Amino acid sequence: MSRSVQVIRENQSPSGAYPACPTFSAYAGYAWLRDGAFIAEGMSRAGEEASVTAFHEWCARVITARTAQVDDLISRRHGPLSPGEMLPTRFTLDGADGTDDWWDHQLDGYGTWLWQLAEHARRHSVEVPMEAVRVASRYLAAFWDSPCYDWWEEHVEQRHVATLGAVHAGLRAAVSLGVTDAEVKEAIGGIEALIAAEGVSAKGHLRKWLGSDEVDASLLACVAPFGLYAPDHPVAVATVAEVERQLAHEGGVYRYRADTFYGGGRWVLLAGFLGLNHAAAGRRDEASRYLEWMAAQALPNGDLPEQVSDVLLFPDRYDEWLQRWGTVATPLLWSHGMYLMLGAEL
Ligand code: BGC
Repeated sequence: MSRSVQVIRENQSPSGAYPACPTFSAYAGYAWLRDGAFIAEGMSRAGEEASVTAFHEWCARVITARTAQVDDLISRRHGPLSPGEMLPTRFTLDGADGTDDWWDHQLDGYGTWLWQLAEHARRHSVEVPMEAVRVASRYLAAFWDSPCYDWWEEHVEQRHVATLGAVHAGLRAAVSLGVTDAEVKEAIGGIEALIAAEGVSAKGHLRKWLGSDEVDASLLACVAPFGLYAPDHPVAVATVAEVERQLAHEGGVYRYRADTFYGGGRWVLLAGFLGLNHAAAGRRDEASRYLEWMAAQALPNGDLPEQVSDVLLFPDRYDEWLQRWGTVATPLLWSHGMYLMLGAEL
């Protein structure tokens, strides 16, 4: 645990941003709201109050600086909007959009940020940046229903259930922090109704996206930690069971069956989500098994990678990524954040 805190602390930018990975070619110099919010949750649970508060101050600056963009997007919401016009997925460490092409538009990070801010404020005394909370929640309430890239920055044409779960958690958090907009409350109800009507497969588990019968390990977050469904709700039970049946292998967890990124390895951070779900359902031994697997993936210096490449779904697709982006991202701060979350839970 102390090594994970140290890795995150040492890499946090003076600006407050948590970089995804300091060394990996495609991520270096950038911070994602999704990664950052889960890293912050791990640090908040570990009692690293000042680090997390600095992260939220950075997020608040980044978001309020885009108020005019949000107002403009909302005023044009009924016309055609291209994904590239929407708010960014990731930012440079000083909060700019950055100049490298990326898979922008992803809504989940804005929801996960709001969710973590409320969690942090509940645990520690912090001044809540209400202006940024209002901008983010107005943005999500206006666009929650439209397609965007998923957690894995894929399938921009779909509406992803894990994204809807993150937005739902974020909007509920905004209300708990004092947002009273009718549109925010309508969006919360709208997400619940849409998922109940179209987000659950005939087998009773959440769908990767509306219309798909596949599962994706990101769906785990809809139960723990987001709480869209309580751990004993039949949809939660079926989702966790199906993700584990299809995607878990000896303590490690794949993203989804068709994953070819670096050949499709097992992700350290997803073992954290599955562990959290076992813990939430009262299965501490199972949860501990995932925590142990996570710890066992650390390099001798304690760094955790993004994914582990020993038992690949598509081994012949590994090399193309190695050539393109170099060795797997290590240390991935989100892996360390999840390790702290599950460790604190247990
Ligand atoms: C993953 C994202 C993640 C990003 C930075 C990408 O490869 O698909 O989920 O946010 O890396 O860690």
